[in-house]
Amino acid sequence: MTVFNFSAGPAALPLSVKQQIANDLYDWNGTGCSVMEVSHRSKEFTDMADENEALARELLNISDEYAVMLIPGGARLQYSMLPTNISSTDGQAVYAINGHWGKQAIKEAARFTQASSTAPISDEVYASIPPYDASQLNPSADYFHYTSNETLEGVQWHQLPETHGIPLCCDMTSDLLTRVFDVNDYSMIYASAQKNMGIAGITFVIMKRDMIGQSKNLLPTMTDYKTYADTRSFYNTPPTFPWYVMLLVLRWVKAQGGVAAIEATNQIKSSKLYDFVDHSDFYLNKVDPVCRSAVNVPFWLQDERLNDLFLKTSSDAGLKALKGHMAVGGMRASIYNAVPEAGIDALIAFMKEFERTNG
Ligand SMILES: Cc1ncc(COP(=O)(O)O)c(C=O)c1O
Repeated sequence: MTVFNFSAGPAALPLSVKQQIANDLYDWNGTGCSVMEVSHRSKEFTDMADENEALARELLNISDEYAVMLIPGGARLQYSMLPTNISSTDGQAVYAINGHWGKQAIKEAARFTQASSTAPISDEVYASIPPYDASQLNPSADYFHYTSNETLEGVQWHQLPETHGIPLCCDMTSDLLTRVFDVNDYSMIYASAQKNMGIAGITFVIMKRDMIGQSKNLLPTMTDYKTYADTRSFYNTPPTFPWYVMLLVLRWVKAQGGVAAIEATNQIKSSKLYDFVDHSDFYLNKVDPVCRSAVNVPFWLQDERLNDLFLKTSSDAGLKALKGHMAVGGMRASIYNAVPEAGIDALIAFMKEFERTNG
């Protein structure tokens, strides 16, 4: 049975990447060892790291004005690294909130800086991006932070936020590499790897070099961006296996035709699923169409009593991890880069059949 994995993260990897990992396990690059067993200071590993950085820069068009860093600790570590490096207790930071992860980010930031949100923070499940008047923002705030794609709610920004000139920082954990954007619009971008860049263990950070090493705070060496920029992320023993998997995924993205080609496929995938849900009386999606996510598609059964049956039968049919996050309920199909269009077709066919037998 073909299995399609709709997990929100850790998420599906491309099949060819898994096959390559299996091939390399006993003998990586002629070393006679797996990549997990070689020194991160060895030529094989540093060559691999060089290729990874060059490919990331090529695919995302990142100029030398930016440092690229691989940092352990997940996206959540960035919630404190950003304010402690770039702001201070008497500094200010602005957060746009459109879902769960933005709320976590501002909560953590508020421990280290004067963090304010662009609009009142709601306890409701977000189904849109709250509007705000950018001219009211303090232009001397240290940074403006937003979450480009809220993974739980499926709420995605399709245009840049207005920042009133405040440096823009973004949590792109669930949509980096899924669509084309201009890095030059940002001061800082971060994404943990386990959705579209490989596996858990590293966070990819892009930061303007002139922002690095400016902190007014006394920082632990391991949470100072300067440490990672100066050593090219080789200060301590880095998470070598996730790093290697990231390179395999970047090679795969390039082989697909790059980010623009990936984005075109993602558009086809998500449109198919939204169209189907929108034309159904059995399923629904509650998110404002102008900010629906191309990579996390939440949907609900009109009759919630059928949820458990839906989850069991879909899983039995090889459609895995469709349960929505408990904070949101219903179902969620995470259709990241590695989920093929065939997975969407199989999901829609299953949903039709489920409706036919239970509607
Ligand atoms: C948008 C977003 N930000 C942050 C996180 C937290 O990432 P991590 O668990 O790597 O810290 C997640 C995890 O799903 C996420 O989806």
